[in-house]
Amino acid sequence: MSKLFVSEHPLIHTKMAMLRNKETGTKEFREIIQEVAMLLTYEATRDLPMKDIIVETPVATANCKTAAEKFAIVPILRAGMGMTDGLLKLLPTAKIGHIGLYRDEETKQPVEYYCKLPADVQERTVFLTDPMLATGGSAAAAVGFLKERGVKKIIFLCILAAPDGVQKMQEEHPDVDIYAAAYDGMLNENAYIVPGLGDAGDRIFGTK
Ligand code: PRP
Ligand code: URA
Repeated sequence: MSKLFVSEHPLIHTKMAMLRNKETGTKEFREIIQEVAMLLTYEATRDLPMKDIIVETPVATANCKTAAEKFAIVPILRAGMGMTDGLLKLLPTAKIGHIGLYRDEETKQPVEYYCKLPADVQERTVFLTDPMLATGGSAAAAVGFLKERGVKKIIFLCILAAPDGVQKMQEEHPDVDIYAAAYDGMLNENAYIVPGLGDAGDRIFGTK
């Protein structure tokens, strides 16, 4: 079964309190989402494979290590885009793809409307981003689309995870580890995470 990592870092707790606060405005919300995404990326890259390299310092030769893999960041549109800059701070050479999904308000099912990925995405470790893992429909579908296109290693990063979403991901994609800044215990009748932080996309883009 895949790993669920939920951060207990004091800085992430502090930033999550600000994100959850309904008085936090668009500019601040957007900035904090990026900061939390960056901190989560630090956690999610802890076990990445490394390779040996030799570096000439000004003094002598040093045996060093460097990340062995190439990366891609794939936000699920639209709210996942709010996390991209945070990941790029730590993975500056990553290529970026996009998967467009929206959750049908009636059926709560994900509908794909866009997909554009780096040409060599199959050779890259993909960091799939979406702030909210609620029912898990969107994330599980996006992982399925990536696998159909040949991606072998996927790590899912979200700001808030809920039990239904985690269960769905672990059942359908046991090979995909989940990194979340926080975990809330339930969904409401509209499949919103409770207590949650509201509609992530609307709060990032200021559309409501
Ligand atoms: C939100 C969120 C996830 C999805 C989570 O997107 O950003 O993509 O819902 O719900 P799920 O786990 O039940 O699938 P939304 O459909 O509101 O689109 P948006 O990104 O354009 O705001
Ligand atoms: N999408 C959101 O933006 N928020 C939720 O709580 C659930 C899905």
